[in-house]
Amino acid sequence: MNMATVIPINSAAKAAVGWRRACGVEDIPKLGARVIKTAHGNVAVFRNAEDETFALQDECPHKKGPLSQGIVHGRKVTCPLHSWTIQLEDGCAVAPDQGCTRSYPVRIENGEVFVRLGA
Ligand code: FES
Repeated sequence: MNMATVIPINSAAKAAVGWRRACGVEDIPKLGARVIKTAHGNVAVFRNAEDETFALQDECPHKKGPLSQGIVHGRKVTCPLHSWTIQLEDGCAVAPDQGCTRSYPVRIENGEVFVRLGA
C-alpha cells in the first residue's frame, strides 16, 4: 500500500485561472499518489510507471475509499478498501463494477504538475 503525502496548494499557485500547480512530477512516488487539498476536497495526483500523471477526486465511487492509498498499475488504480479497479483517465470503475469519481485534466510544464480544478 502506498502512503500518500498531503500537501496544501499555496495561494500564489491559485493565481492562475483554472490551472493550479500541484507539485513536481518527482514529488509523486512512482506507482503512487500525492494528495492536494482544494476547495473541491482532496484531489489525488497519480504517477504511473511511464511517468504519466492523472488527477482524481480522492474518493472511490464505491464507498469513498482513499484512492491515493491504492495500487497504481498501468492507467488504473486499485482501491485499498474493497479492490475495485478505477481508470485513472476518467475515474470510472472497471466492469462489472459501476460508478465514477471526478477526474481533472492534468498537464506537465517543466517538470511541474498542474491540475485544472475549475469547470
Ligand atoms: S471503497 Fe473503493 S472498492 Fe470499496
